[in-house]
Amino acid sequence: MYQIIAYIEFLFNSTNQHGVHSPFVYNFVTKCLYNKVKYTAYNDFKTYRNRLKSSNDTLQIVDLGEGSKTLDSKTRKVRQMVKASSSSLKETKLLYRVTQYFNFNTILELGSSLGMGSYAFALANKFSKITTIEGCLNTLEYTKSKFNKLKVENINFLNGEFAAVIPNLKEEKFDCIYFDGHHNKNATLQYFEALLPKAHNYSVFIFDDIYWSKGMTEAWELIKAHEAVTVTVDTFHLGFVFFRKEQAKQHFKIRL
Ligand SMILES: C[S@@+](CC[C@H](N)C(=O)[O-])C[C@H]1O[C@@H](n2cnc3c(N)ncnc32)[C@H](O)[C@@H]1O
Repeated sequence: MYQIIAYIEFLFNSTNQHGVHSPFVYNFVTKCLYNKVKYTAYNDFKTYRNRLKSSNDTLQIVDLGEGSKTLDSKTRKVRQMVKASSSSLKETKLLYRVTQYFNFNTILELGSSLGMGSYAFALANKFSKITTIEGCLNTLEYTKSKFNKLKVENINFLNGEFAAVIPNLKEEKFDCIYFDGHHNKNATLQYFEALLPKAHNYSVFIFDDIYWSKGMTEAWELIKAHEAVTVTVDTFHLGFVFFRKEQAKQHFKIRL
């Protein structure tokens, strides 16, 4: 119910490119978010997702986050997991375009699950270095084996609780960090603060499910208000955070 009300409010308060005066954001919206090119990689995402959707595999799950709104059993069917927890095809395509547009080389993902996000990052830039963290070892091993078969080689899978793995990350900085696990206000703020030192002036933080719950929206509002943050772009499902000091602090809600 919260998500429906939030979406109606979003529709009233959001705009398209015509409401945007910042050239940086205008270009991001028109050349990236609204880019209608049908990249061949989109077929790969669809094929991979369809395979997962028709899979008869089951996994024993350890969920360290908020769990799923629709799945609560510890033994989950892959075909159900992909529908309940994976990035949608629309989001996957968007992550692909964003990675290409900003030319991300170093990417961190919190929450690998079945790998839709990692796949988007990996195909968008074959030379990028992607690190993805997953708390459930069985899920991680399953996704890793799928990517081995697909010959996707630029992904480093790390197993463990986000809070335990983050302090041991070797990378000084990341061009992009995708926060897509543990959709809870305090946890999201904790990971944001812990990863802020890994941001440089041109880094982009992407938050999934910012309207998943009232708490997640509160976390999003606090992130927007943070002194390190300048521009934010809210597309309802995903929230983009920029740190570019040359930009005035400004927040945009863009309908996709
Ligand atoms: C929404 S799914 C990720 C979807 C994936 N990023 C995609 O693009 O399809 C979230 C994943 O994060 C993992 N997770 C949640 N909380 C975690 C935590 N505190 N530490 C480690 N993994 C966690 C869950 O096991 C789950 O697989």
